[in-house]
Amino acid sequence: MSEHTPTSGQQALSALLHENRRFDPPPELAARANAQPSIYEEAAADRLAWWAEQARRLDWDTPFSTVLEWDLPDAKWFADGRLNACVNCVDRHVAAGKGSKVAFHWVGEPDGDTRTITYKDLLEEVSRAANALESLGVKAGDRVAIYMPMIPEAVVSMLACARIGAPHSVVFGGFSAEALASRILDSDCQVVITADGGYRRGAAAALKPHVDEALEQCPTVRAVLCVRRTGQDVAWIEGRDHWWHDTVETASSTHQAQSFEAEQPLYLMYTSGTTAKPKGILHTTGGYLTHVAATHRLIFDVKPDEDVFWTAADIGWVTGHSYIVYGPLANGTTSVLYEGTPTAGGRDRWWRIVEDYKVNILYTAPTTIRTLMKWGEDLPAAHDLSSLRVLGSVGEPINPEAWMWYRKNVGRTRCPIVDTWWQTETGGILITPLPGITSTKPGAAMRPFPGISAEVVDNEGKPVGNGEGGYLVITEPWPGMLRGIWGDHDRYVSTYWSRFPGVYFAGDGAKKDDDGDLWLLGRVDDVMNISGHRISTTEVEHALVGHPSVAEAAVVGASDETTGQAIVAFVTVKGNVQVENEAATEALVDELRNTVATTIGPIAKPRQIILTPELPKTRSGKIMRRLLRDVAEHRELGDVTTLMDPTVVNMISEKMTAGGEDEA
Ligand code: PRX
Repeated sequence: MSEHTPTSGQQALSALLHENRRFDPPPELAARANAQPSIYEEAAADRLAWWAEQARRLDWDTPFSTVLEWDLPDAKWFADGRLNACVNCVDRHVAAGKGSKVAFHWVGEPDGDTRTITYKDLLEEVSRAANALESLGVKAGDRVAIYMPMIPEAVVSMLACARIGAPHSVVFGGFSAEALASRILDSDCQVVITADGGYRRGAAAALKPHVDEALEQCPTVRAVLCVRRTGQDVAWIEGRDHWWHDTVETASSTHQAQSFEAEQPLYLMYTSGTTAKPKGILHTTGGYLTHVAATHRLIFDVKPDEDVFWTAADIGWVTGHSYIVYGPLANGTTSVLYEGTPTAGGRDRWWRIVEDYKVNILYTAPTTIRTLMKWGEDLPAAHDLSSLRVLGSVGEPINPEAWMWYRKNVGRTRCPIVDTWWQTETGGILITPLPGITSTKPGAAMRPFPGISAEVVDNEGKPVGNGEGGYLVITEPWPGMLRGIWGDHDRYVSTYWSRFPGVYFAGDGAKKDDDGDLWLLGRVDDVMNISGHRISTTEVEHALVGHPSVAEAAVVGASDETTGQAIVAFVTVKGNVQVENEAATEALVDELRNTVATTIGPIAKPRQIILTPELPKTRSGKIMRRLLRDVAEHRELGDVTTLMDPTVVNMISEKMTAGGEDEA
């Protein structure tokens, strides 16, 4: 593979691969499962017919007659059909007599702060919000930025945008003002929905001030809609700023939704690529909704009339879009919506939520599982988790130890674990076991979902054999696939469709084991995965060189026991900058970490910053990141003969050892 051969936790993975531990589905589970064993053959026999059947589970105002129009790499799914995503998620369930069914059990971070939202409540709220957005001049096609904590109004805002055909662009509340501004500008949003603040790790964190700061750079934003969540004081610009309780809650609770064509843009989600500029990934309506509804129903084996489903993620990421909002609501499911992080509200907060709400399906990231694992078996053991039926994992490779811990201590060896591989770009899950149908192996995502065609290929694009590794590609278009990068078709083509002609290049390494089952091994490019969050090395380098003292910066993702990867930065300072002693070094390192936090967000703060007089470069002047990764992971150094000055890397290595791990 390339110099970016994934390493984090992979040794452990491959060790287990040889052991090939496997759990076969118990027959009683298979008998009750939504998916039946024949599903793979049925989908393979006629992929498009199978997807069309999934699409027909939605309500179409105008039924589609075509399934796929494929002009590589541009796809249109169900193109002549018309539907409304919000109506499919809300109205149709109320119309079917399920208005009193709970859509969300909302749990705020402060203990006891809860709300129950039924489908009828949701319909009224969404209708009010849609009316309010229209009164602010938002029309179909206009982009709306959403920068909010995990409160019901965030979901309502997304659905209200969908209802009026205005693509939303949700920006994770942990991003900085600058990151928010660049996203607003890139897609030219004219309205921003936010809150005064939200609760994060036990304290009220501010959001509106970040919006105010961002908007100094965004003169085209004409309206800000602001929810009062924490009650903190906020600055106010008359005419531009509107309180949610004045604008939305006074609007009419009925709103006549119109239908849109299937390819109507539904949302943009910005994600990190290999350059400093995040990409606005575009998703459209009919195909996306089909994909997330089908995957939600079949992969989590959801019984909408019985189950309580909990995706413990933030709606600021794609996992929240697809498996908190669109998938579960399209299927009329009851979900838990939790404002806080696992570390807030006591170490057993999660288990209390599972117990209190009798959660049947829990979906989260390996980082969280590893954190819960660090806290010990006693906490989950002290709670009644017998309601749990299926467990899911997403966002990063799950190490077998965490998988086994999850199975034993959370699933009590009874619940199948679905390790689901997908990306912002894929819209929904593409590789996963199916509960009751597919065997599982600790650390493997196993096989493509029905109707999905994936392959592992070598450098030349040839499929590898069983027992071999390579690059993951998707060989046929799928309904939830991205329709492009906002405003940059060339980048869409070059990023995803050029590395191997005719197929989608995911950017991940993968391996087929001796049985042909798939193991996802992490990124093969300059994208890091920190606690399941994608951050590009270039973006962090860019932030660092933005500091006046910095001459050059090189950033790598080093494996980390809890967060999967952690950011390590190697920085050279400008000639005129004096860093004489330890105190001055510490002060500068602190300043640099804060620079990254204000440029991108606290999630991108390097775990460690090493100041060094030089960076290891080849004779042609290229920074050798591979060596820096070796240094950061305390590995024996690879080949250093091509370096301009091989002593540089030894010096950095010594500094790294001397500096210890500077925990973020
Ligand atoms: O490297 C893969 C990793 O997360 C990347 C996608 O990140 P993002 O677009 O932020 O979406 C995360 C949530 C879907 C992938 O390229 N990844 C995601 N799921 C898995 C995974 N790696 C291994 N196993 C997974 N189950």
